[in-house]
Amino acid sequence: MSNNNIQIFDTTLRDGEQVPGCKLNTEQKLVIAEQLDELGVDIIEAGFPVSSPGDFKSVEEISKIVKNATVCGLTRSVQNDIKVAAEALKYAARPRIHTGIGTSNSHIVHKFKTTQEDILERAFAAVKYAKSFVEDVEFYAEDAGRTDNEYLARVCEVAIKAGATVLNIPDTTGYCLPSEYGAKIKYLKENVKGIEKAILSCHCHNDLGLATANSIEGVINGARQIECTINGIGERAGNTALEEVVMVLKQHPYLNLDTNINTSMLYGMSQLVSDSMGIYTQPNKAIVGSNAFAHSSGIHQDGVIKNRETYEIIDPKDVGVTESAIVLTARSGRAALAYRAKNVGYELTKLQLDEVYADFLNFADKKKEINDSDIHQIIEGSKVYQQIISA
Ligand code: KIV
Ligand code: ZN
Repeated sequence: MSNNNIQIFDTTLRDGEQVPGCKLNTEQKLVIAEQLDELGVDIIEAGFPVSSPGDFKSVEEISKIVKNATVCGLTRSVQNDIKVAAEALKYAARPRIHTGIGTSNSHIVHKFKTTQEDILERAFAAVKYAKSFVEDVEFYAEDAGRTDNEYLARVCEVAIKAGATVLNIPDTTGYCLPSEYGAKIKYLKENVKGIEKAILSCHCHNDLGLATANSIEGVINGARQIECTINGIGERAGNTALEEVVMVLKQHPYLNLDTNINTSMLYGMSQLVSDSMGIYTQPNKAIVGSNAFAHSSGIHQDGVIKNRETYEIIDPKDVGVTESAIVLTARSGRAALAYRAKNVGYELTKLQLDEVYADFLNFADKKKEINDSDIHQIIEGSKVYQQIISA
């Protein structure tokens, strides 16, 4: 792995699956895991094995079929969780245990009703115990986003001393501003003793719509792993969307940060997860929404027909979408109508287009979107139809 390679840690099957009402069965999880492996993700978080027999089985079965990616299981800082995760991962070619504990005052005081020193001891013991089963141990400092940086650095040092290979810095509540999250990663890079022995990971939630921006700030400031889900699904407002961070890095090559993702699979992957989970993807969702490459206003359509790059920063084929769409509505102009008419077999002169366009606007005012059969109907009903077909 080069120092500029960002590891993509997919948690669709763990954090993503925590969406209310969206349980997947083992069969569905296996299909998704196989596709994630093909997509090129570096780590698949397959589940939380101690949470249920079903989750244990899924992690075990996924471990058997994944060929390239590391397979990871989540635990709390509890010995039995760690033992059960190690058991579920025993068939994985590259197993990772992901253990951790809450580190913010809110978690220490209200959830654990304990002290900062006790949390340090529990963190050390959990990583040490996980290391007795696997070499690759990731430690998460839950609610790191709201944890004081000095204390967070002490937690990271303890985890590294116990053998952690990855330090996950979750913005569990999606609270941080991008500048704040980036500064946190920079602080840890500069102040944690032994940081060169581990990589820092971004795990950002989307409560304020900042998960993608925060993850990008994290890697700009030295993190080398991003934890994310397909379509950004997950608890509450969700996690960082995999397709977004991957395309941000691809579209900004001067950042000199890349991933191993085969981006032409992104749209298909999004559809697979959306269909399996029964979670509809909003039409305006970046990269994979149905409108992400659709143009409907006359000014934009005219530009895109002349040159796609006037209003598109991504070639739709790069993410697995066949082509940009020119959508005909009452906001469309002559250029779009001529383009779509040509696609269904009518080459219109300027005068013919003026005539048909007036009929089109009347039609479009009554109907939201004009499809190919509407175009035939409009042209066949126009005064210039005979002229058009005899040309
Ligand atoms: O958001 C979070 O803090 C988590 C941890 C369990 C990694 O999902
Ligand atoms: Zn999370």
